[in-house]
Amino acid sequence: MVAAAPRADDTAPGAFGAERSPGVAAGAPGADRGGALIALEGVDGCGKSTQARLLVEALQRRGAAVGPLDAPGTVVREPGGTPLGEGVRELLLHRDHAVGAWAEALLYAAARSQLAHDVLWPALAAGRVLVLDRYVDSSLAYQGHARGVGIDAVLQVNAAATGGLLPDLSLVLELPRRVAAARRSSSPDRIEAEGEDLQKRVADGYAVLVRRFPQRMLVVPGDGDRAAVAASVADAVLPWLERRGLLGREASGEPS
Ligand code: TYD
Repeated sequence: MVAAAPRADDTAPGAFGAERSPGVAAGAPGADRGGALIALEGVDGCGKSTQARLLVEALQRRGAAVGPLDAPGTVVREPGGTPLGEGVRELLLHRDHAVGAWAEALLYAAARSQLAHDVLWPALAAGRVLVLDRYVDSSLAYQGHARGVGIDAVLQVNAAATGGLLPDLSLVLELPRRVAAARRSSSPDRIEAEGEDLQKRVADGYAVLVRRFPQRMLVVPGDGDRAAVAASVADAVLPWLERRGLLGREASGEPS
């Protein structure tokens, strides 16, 4: 299924305002496109997958309609989320072949394009809240900044690939480098296996992005215990969704 990307008015009211980047007007954050897209970001080992799951649970408790149309209550992971995306994930992360920086940027964008058109736009049009375990800001930090492709170049490619779909809110979990390194898996994928220099450049990339896109990005301290970090994530997300009228739509099964 390929849904047409709705055109959004980037002057529409919204807490995060419109993106100021060239070529990214359609679907600008803050424009009312029905639902909402919340991305969890950070270096490898920052804990975003756990926090994405906990955020979905918190949103369900507050009566939000969370997740894709055909998989309610789930986190959308990147790369992945579609059969093509899972194939690209395998190609990018679990094969022992050379991958150039531009090839890497384009493959992530290809997977994201399929995801945006098949899963994200239709769910947003139906008013759903989507929690993503990584989205376009991963490409800006890893390929754009850390690999040197350029943030603007990667942004343009992704804007074209997704119909201009940027996250409404992108939370960067930040923690000391050695804590993240200790949390990384003992069987690293191709990118993790590159080691600390790359991870440091990725962390620098996220810092650049947060300064550049303050309307939609914010840093959440990620080195507390799980529950404390989850509370900070919920504090950053719930009031904004409440203002947008996206909470309390579904029976939560619990008193609110
Ligand atoms: P990750 O979510 O960390 O997978 P897992 O939790 O299974 O380890 O993502 C896989 C890797 O892909 C990670 O090293 C970051 C990288 N990546 C990019 O370089 N660019 C992108 O656009 C995305 C989505 C991920």
